[in-house]
Amino acid sequence: MTRSELISHALNARKQSYSPYSHFQVGAALLSSDGKLYTGCNIENAAYTPSNCAERTAFFKAVSEGVKSFSSIAIIGGPEGADSLQLCAPCGVCRQVMMEFCDPKSFEVILAMDSEHYEVFTLEQILPMGFGPEDLEK
Ligand code: THU
Repeated sequence: MTRSELISHALNARKQSYSPYSHFQVGAALLSSDGKLYTGCNIENAAYTPSNCAERTAFFKAVSEGVKSFSSIAIIGGPEGADSLQLCAPCGVCRQVMMEFCDPKSFEVILAMDSEHYEVFTLEQILPMGFGPEDLEK
């Protein structure tokens, strides 16, 4: 799957965003190492703290289906009804979830404004010196 195709899936997932409190809609499309697609949107809650980000929705869908190896994620987010979108960087909690299941040197985080305009980072770039499962074995 191309990066543009993955972003298009994230854009579609964003349409499902349940964000009546922030009105900030986010979509994510996660690609597993064996080429399967898992999408997610942010899901908010009247009690606020139980809200879940789009990225974690996608990861938890995949892991709950037994998939634990990933190559990239596309993320697109911004205010409801905005004419154009700025890059939406994942929150710290989502970066830490990525650290649990992804190789920080090779996992691609694609931050998109639309399917043609995006920037690509490795997980290591957006989470330097991340703490992951291997650190528990040292
Ligand atoms: N949000 C995400 O889903 N992903 C991000 O990368 C940043 C923030 C959500 C959480 C909340 O529902 C809304 O955006 C505003 O913070």
